[in-house]
Amino acid sequence: MRESSPMNAGDGTYSYTKNSTVQRDGASGVKDAIKEALMENFDIEKMLGGSTIFTIADLGCSVGPNTVSAMESLLETVEHKCRQQGLEDLEFQVLFNDQIGNDFNTLFAALPQPRSYFSAAVPGSFYSRLFPCSSVHMAYSSFAIHWLSKVPEELQRKDSPAWNAGRIHYSDDSPEAVLEAYTNQFQRDMEAFFGARAQEIAPGGVMVMVVPGVPDGVVTYSGGVAFRFLEFILSDMVKEGVIEQEQVDLFNIPNVYPCVKDLRRLVERNGCFEIVKMEFGEVVVGKVEPENGIMLIRAVFEGCMANHFGAVVINQLFVRAMQHKLQFAAILNSAGIQGTAISQIMVVLKRI
Ligand SMILES: C[S@@+](CC[C@H](N)C(=O)[O-])C[C@H]1O[C@@H](n2cnc3c(N)ncnc32)[C@H](O)[C@@H]1O
Repeated sequence: MRESSPMNAGDGTYSYTKNSTVQRDGASGVKDAIKEALMENFDIEKMLGGSTIFTIADLGCSVGPNTVSAMESLLETVEHKCRQQGLEDLEFQVLFNDQIGNDFNTLFAALPQPRSYFSAAVPGSFYSRLFPCSSVHMAYSSFAIHWLSKVPEELQRKDSPAWNAGRIHYSDDSPEAVLEAYTNQFQRDMEAFFGARAQEIAPGGVMVMVVPGVPDGVVTYSGGVAFRFLEFILSDMVKEGVIEQEQVDLFNIPNVYPCVKDLRRLVERNGCFEIVKMEFGEVVVGKVEPENGIMLIRAVFEGCMANHFGAVVINQLFVRAMQHKLQFAAILNSAGIQGTAISQIMVVLKRI
C-alpha cells in the first residue's frame, strides 16, 4: 500500500461527512479539558513573537463538519485568551491539512460563510514538512496520527515471522513479531511527525492531539473488534472463491493504537515539547447501533481496503457486513462494547 488512504469523499450515504459522529463526540468530550489547558498554560503574545497573524493547522482534517467545529472551538479559546491578554486586531488563518487524495473541494464548499478566519488547504503527508519554520502557533490533530505512513514491510513477507496470515490487524494474541513490526513503524512515523512539527511550531506554540488509544499495558484496541468482524467476512469470501487467501494474508490495516506510556516516551525522545497534558479516557459518545458502526467502518476503511482488494469486492464486503449486522452486534456484546464510549488519549504539548 502506497500511503494510508483518505476517508470516503463527498457528503453521500457512505461519506465520512455523514458517518463521523463518533469521532465528533470523542473530540468534543475533551473540548473543555483542552480549553482549560490552553487558558492556563499558554501566552499568545509570546508565541506570536511580534506577528499579527495567528496560524492554526488541522493535521488530518478529512472532510465534513468535525474539522470545522474543532477549529471554531479552538479559535474561540484563542480569542478569549487574546482578550484576556489585551491583544487586539489579530487576524486568524486556518490551514487544513490532509493527504493529497482528500476531498478538499467538499470541505471548502462546506466552510461557514462568513467566517472569522482565512483558510487554505495544505495537501501532503504530516510525516514530512508541511509549513515554513516557526510559522504555526497551534497545531491540532484528531483521530489521525494512528494512521501509519505505510504498512510495515515485515508484515508483507511470507518468509517473515511477522507474516500476519489470516489477520488484517493485531491484538493481544498476535505473534510478538507482528506487534513489533507495528510498534517499530509507529515509532519511526512519530519521530518524523514530531521532528517536522518541532520545526514548524513557533516557540511557546501548542500542539493538541486526540488519538484513539489503549490504557497502559493493554494491546488490543476496544474498537479492534471491527477488524475481527471484517476478518470473518473476508474469510467467508475466500471460502466462496470471491478472493484468494493470499490477498487476505497480504492485507494489513496500517493503524496503531498507542498508550500514554508509548506516546510520552516518543515526545520525550524528540525533546522539543513539554507535556502539558496527556491523559487516557473513555469518552461517552451517543449510542452507536450496529448498522451505524458498519457505516462508520466503511467511511473510514473502504478506501484502503478497495486499494488492495478492488472497489467491487469491497462493496460486496460491506453489503455482506450489513447482512451480518446481528453477528456484529453479538461480537460487540461479547467484547463488552455497548457502542457508547470511545477509548482515546488527549494530548496538549508546548513547543519549548
Ligand atoms: C479518521 S479521519 C479524522 C478526521 C478528523 N480529524 C476528525 O477528527 O474527524 C483521519 C484522517 O487522517 C488523514 N491522514 C492519515 N494519514 C495522514 C498523513 N500521513 N498525512 C495527512 N493526513 C493523514 C486521513 O486521510 C483522514 O482524513
